[in-house]
Amino acid sequence: MIIVLDFGGQYNQLIARRVRECNVYAEVHPYTLSLDKIKEMNPKGIIFTGGPNSVYGEESPRYQKEIFDLGIPILGICYGSQLMAYMLGGTVETAPVSEYGRTEVDVDNSSAIFQGVKPQTICWMSHTDYISKAPEGFKIVAKTPVCPVAAMECPERKLYATQFHPEVMHTEEGQKMLSNFVYNVCGCSGDWKMDSFVETTIREIREKVGDGKVLCALSGGVDSSVAAVLLSKAVGKQLTCVFVDHGLLRKNEGDEVEAVFGPDGPYELNFIRVNAQERYYKKLAGVTEPEAKRKIIGEEFIRVFEEEAKKIGAVDFLVQGTIYPDVIESGLGKSAVIKSHHNVGGLPDHVDFKEIIEPLRLLFKDEVRKAGLELGIPEYLVYRQPFPGPGLGIRIIGEVTADKVRIVQDADYIYREEIAKAGLAKNLGQYFAALTNMRSVGVMGDERTYDYAIALRAVNTSDFMTADCSEIPFEVLQKVMTRIINEVKGVNRVMYDLTSKPPGTIEFE
Ligand code: XMP
Repeated sequence: MIIVLDFGGQYNQLIARRVRECNVYAEVHPYTLSLDKIKEMNPKGIIFTGGPNSVYGEESPRYQKEIFDLGIPILGICYGSQLMAYMLGGTVETAPVSEYGRTEVDVDNSSAIFQGVKPQTICWMSHTDYISKAPEGFKIVAKTPVCPVAAMECPERKLYATQFHPEVMHTEEGQKMLSNFVYNVCGCSGDWKMDSFVETTIREIREKVGDGKVLCALSGGVDSSVAAVLLSKAVGKQLTCVFVDHGLLRKNEGDEVEAVFGPDGPYELNFIRVNAQERYYKKLAGVTEPEAKRKIIGEEFIRVFEEEAKKIGAVDFLVQGTIYPDVIESGLGKSAVIKSHHNVGGLPDHVDFKEIIEPLRLLFKDEVRKAGLELGIPEYLVYRQPFPGPGLGIRIIGEVTADKVRIVQDADYIYREEIAKAGLAKNLGQYFAALTNMRSVGVMGDERTYDYAIALRAVNTSDFMTADCSEIPFEVLQKVMTRIINEVKGVNRVMYDLTSKPPGTIEFE
């Protein structure tokens, strides 16, 4: 195992992920992890991450010098490299010229970390400080015209450092450098696989939970499903999953979740489905303001969940399907609140539990999917597109009613069916139908109509922070339009939303 010691950089999880891509297990831990704990964990290597600070800052994160004497290989990246230099007697200063972005670096191939790397290679730099003088005993193994120590090493002590970021894609041979570090320097064997994550996690959960009781809020989304199956494999009937059908799910979704996780499904667990549709519609009646709707849906979820938990009584653990991007997004907390994503960090106050288990908190979405397939979860569930916690509640502009839910469910179902038939599903980031709440005049069978307009949305996105409208073939859109108008009562107009994000958001509310 490799420990990635986090000094506050942006790419910390990416480093762990790149190491895992070398089939070596890696975990990110804060720089406050004690030396004793590190010794106890007995990693094959340690990576110091980048970070926003300057090593001279009073508040800057540091580590005890003794870490360099453990005999464990260490790779320092960016701030991590400067910290290594500074703590071992080198000099770090503000660089006369900062380097940002793609930079050509001359590397010395005799270094273990640059084996097989081109002598001149493109690396990603992002620094204002630099190492102006390497510590004694260190050899400089990479440089640029303005960065005299772009990489340094002390092979006798197994210490390595790069000023640039090998973990980002823009460092063209970065993966090679990291694999050189974990294989050639740390001696890792590269036999870790996602199924080892599954096996190890199941074993760890079993040890942690013992004969305790575990409660999980299951939404049927990828993350909570994978978390629930991991728990079910680990502790079977000690796990109870509560699935709240808030009446704002996609068509047939409640039954699909029940088919997989309910008593007729393949997993051993207690499954409770709460049909809370009416309750939600009542609470949402007359409410039109998007944030008010989101708040009601989020709070009501917590109330329903608490009521169920009360029936079950005290439990020892509460499971959350938190994945790494949730951790970063909810951790930042400084950016403006555009929307309150209720299922990130919305924890019930009145559930009696001792500890939270978050088995997926170190994984990215595609890693969660891999784990899901490994666990035998059906593909349609593993590859489901993201669906927001407040569900169709934020795809119906304005007031939510049972009839509007029916309209948007049926329209969305047709849309998804036609996208699948056209073989487009895997190429689209997210696609759905929304009810605009606008009614307009139409004519159907010589009759005047005054009905709703459905908006179809499809976007391409890699991170859901920005998105472009997808170019769906016109004949597919036309087919969807015809079917919706013919098959969904209450709709007489269909529109396609061309807006990118920004300025639009992906969802409508
Ligand atoms: P927006 O609309 O903010 O959506 O551009 C970005 C992504 O987040 C999803 N989304 C949510 N997911 N709870 C969630 O779990 C929410 O409250 C929520 N609101 C939006 C949205 O579906 C898209 O994938």
